Amino acid sequence: MISCKSNKKYPLLLSLLLSFLTVFSSFAQGEQASVSQDGVTAGAAAGGDDAQVQAGAALFKNNCASCHAINEKLVGPPLKDVHKKHKLPWLINWIRNSSKMVQSGDKEALAIFNEYDKQQMPSFALSDDEITSMVKYIEVESATAATAPTGTPANDQAAAAATDGPGGAGGGIATDSYLHIVLIALIIILIVMVVVLLIIANLMKDYLRGKKDLDGNDRELVEQRFDFSKVYKSRAVQVIVGLIFLIVLTDIAIEETFGVGLQQGYQPRQPIAFSHKLHAGEHQIDCNYCHTSVYKSKNANIPSANICMNCHSQIKKESPEIRKIYAAIEKDQPIEWVRVHNLPDLAYFNHSQHTQVGGVECQTCHGPIETMDVVYQFSPLTMGWCINCHREQPLNTEGNGYYNNLVKLHDQANKGAVFTVSSNGGTECSKCHY
Ligand code: HEC
Ligand code: HEC
Ligand code: HEC
Ligand code: HEC
Ligand code: HEC
Ligand code: HEC
Repeated sequence: MISCKSNKKYPLLLSLLLSFLTVFSSFAQGEQASVSQDGVTAGAAAGGDDAQVQAGAALFKNNCASCHAINEKLVGPPLKDVHKKHKLPWLINWIRNSSKMVQSGDKEALAIFNEYDKQQMPSFALSDDEITSMVKYIEVESATAATAPTGTPANDQAAAAATDGPGGAGGGIATDSYLHIVLIALIIILIVMVVVLLIIANLMKDYLRGKKDLDGNDRELVEQRFDFSKVYKSRAVQVIVGLIFLIVLTDIAIEETFGVGLQQGYQPRQPIAFSHKLHAGEHQIDCNYCHTSVYKSKNANIPSANICMNCHSQIKKESPEIRKIYAAIEKDQPIEWVRVHNLPDLAYFNHSQHTQVGGVECQTCHGPIETMDVVYQFSPLTMGWCINCHREQPLNTEGNGYYNNLVKLHDQANKGAVFTVSSNGGTECSKCHY
């Protein structure tokens, strides 16, 4: 009786471990789900309608997270409890057009504007409802942030995690640390279990060894030593190790392919402290003065050191930062600017098509560059982002004979609908992928 069981003891031990693992991990997941649910309900109690908060979270992530976090100062101030600091109508006006409020001399607006070195927050064409939902989201996040202090560097990734996580709005960070505790407890339990099982196995062997009337098969088993090479050779172990390896590999591959260049808010340090705020903002130098090809070709060029020398052969000659330009020219080496925006090779993007032909402003895609001391990636640069604009943006057809017939045909087919970029084929795969 015993022999037929102990024959399979090691695989049995393994499968036991495995089933415990699955049971426990599903238990942990269940806990996670219930915790994040709690997070949401608590949030809803504090802030109101759940769907509204989720909509607010998404809007916040798309429009604001590149400059604002809840607890941390990024480009703009931390927004924790900002709903207590300002009234809702004030917030609506501010988010729609902050510079108008500053110009009108509003005291609160002036104070915050001056505190942030007279940087201008961009305007947002959002509806009352949309802004209200964002304020609700900020309210909920402020409440959760108060109970669970963040340890994460909360730039837009943190906001993304908080909004994309299974909990939707709120609870993201609290759930994280909770999960860690569960995981550690799990590992400890597993180790204890393995030790206990090994002890039991040994006790059983000892007991059997004491018996005289064992047949050959059982005797062999009792004499058997624990053998790692058997574990290696076990099918189950091979399959599990293989699977784990595969999962890790795919995870890395996905990170590598889809992560490239698509980091909203990416703001690398540059070799020279060149400031767009100073040059394009205060001194009002035209973008085109430096990025000379942006209206003419696919790529916007980064200016060579010679262009800097047009001015800096005279201006600020002694500044250590300007010395770096001289050094580059003397060594006849280009300045090694770090690239900020970088689409993957599979996508085709053409600047002149957008700036010259389409009449799209640089700031629509690059944000308020003229207020940035250090350039960062303002837009997500994802396929969804390109396509959303193409669906909504009316095509600039005026004074362009090429479009006359197309527009006429379009108007006949879709009465009154706007002739957008996508009406002209701007959402066809082959326009952007070749
Ligand atoms: C390009 C960066 C940028 C973006 C994007 C941005 N802001 Fe701001 N925001 C700022 C700066 C900078 C300030 C500080 C005031 C100033 O200098 O104009 C500010 C101030 C604020 C304030 C006042 C904070 C206080 O403490 O009184 C609120 C509220 C605010 N922003 C909300 C938003 C919301 C909501 C969004 C998204 C719809 C948003 N901001 C998007 C840069 C930004
Ligand atoms: C005096 C020259 C100068 C002017 C004027 C200027 N830029 Fe730049 N720009 C640079 C240099 C140098 C870099 C590379 C260093 C950096 O990223 O800050 C750069 C980088 C950039 C980048 C990031 C490129 C990348 O690596 O992805 C963008 C976007 C940009 N500029 C847009 C603008 C816009 C929009 C304007 C006008 C509002 C403007 N620039 C005006 C010199 C200039
Ligand atoms: C059209 C003229 C012009 C061009 C072109 C120009 N700059 Fe400037 N730059 C200025 C002015 C004006 C200042 C401000 C000087 C001051 O504060 O007194 C300045 C200041 C600077 C400073 C700050 C120096 C300091 O120590 O305060 C740096 C760094 C700088 N420029 C780098 C560059 C680089 C790099 C380029 C080429 C990509 C460039 N500039 C091109 C006009 C120019
Ligand atoms: C429709 C959106 C859009 C507009 C408008 C736009 N850009 Fe860009 N810009 C991009 C994208 C997308 C990239 C990344 C391109 C790539 O990686 O191939 C980029 C990259 C850049 C770069 C880095 C060099 C390069 O070509 O990759 C500079 C500099 C730049 N833009 C400057 C400007 C200036 C200056 C303007 C206004 C005259 C402008 N851009 C208008 C979307 C835009
Ligand atoms: C802010 C709006 C906006 C964004 C964002 C935008 N585009 Fe466009 N795009 C336009 C407009 C407007 C045109 C039409 C220009 C014209 O031909 O008049 C256009 C045209 C194009 C065309 C030519 C389409 C045709 O029918 O010939 C391509 C290709 C293109 N865009 C690629 C991209 C890619 C790739 C991205 C994202 C990296 C992007 N666009 C992001 C506004 C945008
Ligand atoms: C307006 C431009 C545009 C159009 C139209 C477009 N794409 Fe894309 N696509 C992009 C850009 C930009 C990227 C890279 C950024 C990203 O990965 O989100 C991309 C990435 C991708 C990827 C890589 C995976 C991913 O999501 O990152 C696939 C696959 C893809 N596109 C398929 C398609 C198909 C199929 C169509 C037609 C239905 C299409 N695209 C139409 C701009 C476009």
